[in-house]
Amino acid sequence: MIQKVTDAEIQKQKDISARIKELNNGKKLTACVVTLGCVQNENDSERIRGMLTEMGYEMCNNSKTADVVIFNTCAVRENAELKVFGFLGALKNIKKERPEMLIGICGCMIQQNHIVERIKSRYKHVDMIFGTHSLHRFPQIMYSALQKRVIDVEDTDGYVAENISHVRGSNVIATVSVMYGCNNFCSYCIVPYVRGRERSRTHEDILAECEGLAAQGYKEITLVGQNVNSYGKDCGEIDFADLLHLVSEIEGIERIRFVSVHPKDITDKLIAEMASNPKICKQLHVPLQSGSTKVLGDMNRKYSKEQYLALIDKIRTAMPGLAISTDIIVGFPTETNEDFEDTLDVVKKVGYDMVYNFIYSKRKGTPAAKMDFVLSKEEIKSNFDRLVETQAEILHEKNMKLQDAVVEVLVEGKSRTDDTMLTGRTTENKVVNFSGSPEKIGEIVNVKITKAATWALTGEII
Ligand code: SAH
Ligand code: SF4
Ligand code: F3S
Repeated sequence: MIQKVTDAEIQKQKDISARIKELNNGKKLTACVVTLGCVQNENDSERIRGMLTEMGYEMCNNSKTADVVIFNTCAVRENAELKVFGFLGALKNIKKERPEMLIGICGCMIQQNHIVERIKSRYKHVDMIFGTHSLHRFPQIMYSALQKRVIDVEDTDGYVAENISHVRGSNVIATVSVMYGCNNFCSYCIVPYVRGRERSRTHEDILAECEGLAAQGYKEITLVGQNVNSYGKDCGEIDFADLLHLVSEIEGIERIRFVSVHPKDITDKLIAEMASNPKICKQLHVPLQSGSTKVLGDMNRKYSKEQYLALIDKIRTAMPGLAISTDIIVGFPTETNEDFEDTLDVVKKVGYDMVYNFIYSKRKGTPAAKMDFVLSKEEIKSNFDRLVETQAEILHEKNMKLQDAVVEVLVEGKSRTDDTMLTGRTTENKVVNFSGSPEKIGEIVNVKITKAATWALTGEII
């Protein structure tokens, strides 16, 4: 049974936000929310910004000068955690000078006891510590923190909370959560422990959010969840393929993407829906993790190298032009050099459009944390470098074919690095920077690629 936060509880939180706004008494106050995690974390950050806006705070990007700073953390690898402690350390002196500043830390890291203990004892200048399941109570947490330090970490399978407004980072593209949590328990991964069990939003709530976005002029929606193809298993008739279809019927929404899908859950029905629905982008992220059947077994991934390759074949037969991306972990404890060769083999056979590669990071409390390493750190690093190189060659070859090609790009905004350029993505999810008038933002335009390089595509609107 999905635990939905009641409308009355959400209303209570909105009333508290209004009360905080009153107490702030028209003062011009700013808030900065820093996201350190994945797309789901960013989606949560949008809701935190929504709540802060209702409390009367103005959003800013400067964690040193803001009146409220919130770090929304990630626990998936150790370096993400170390970064947070760096940020917190740097704020110690600022907090001494401005004791009225409020510092909060939330998100996936906080669902781990040892982290909460460490922050409580060593980072006494942090005012709010709250976990992923406490997000909808944020106004209450802020209200209490205005008086004294708050710690709110709940051990639960998790909730679904509706009607919390978002402050979004774009007027063109948006993410919509369709399900939360994960039931897969891959042996290396902390996510199921910090995000709780799989729970789907109702399709009515999802469609209402998407329709609202369409009415505001959004053109592209990315449906997000740890394993979106599990959508609906816990709540009824509508499965993920049906949901995609329903979203595609919304007028004004021109493009739909989604992340992530577990290979074991890519159904024929999903492939058929993707192949026949012109609004669904020609892109699919199919996390491999390892190309070795033995390592995949140790990872609890529930597919073999051969099954994965057969799945890719099936997908490519149905959709020849589809761009495929993946996630790969190098240096899983039981991985040998031969196992790694299997991974390289899959990378070459599939010819990915993008590979996100990670060096295995030991996560306390996961089954893999107890396994002994076969390879040394140096061997793992050298394998990692080989993977990066192999993928760079594949990408180079693919991108060179785009020289002088004309591609359809949804214009998302001005380029972050060059104000005079626009930026957007092709249906295959390739980022293109190009010259053109800002009036085109929000439109799908034809762009001629004038300079194709391994890591960047540049062009001009034609
Ligand atoms: N649910 C999604 C994403 C999970 S986290 C999925 O299954 O695709 C994103 C990626 O981080 C994973 O795909 C995996 O490649 C990587 N990852 C997860 N745990 C890790 C760990 N302990 N060490 C290194 N990389 C990890
Ligand atoms: Fe982690 Fe596996 Fe769940 Fe992805 S599917 S979030 S890798 S446990
Ligand atoms: Fe995402 Fe990191 Fe949490 S990957 S779900 S923010 S642990």
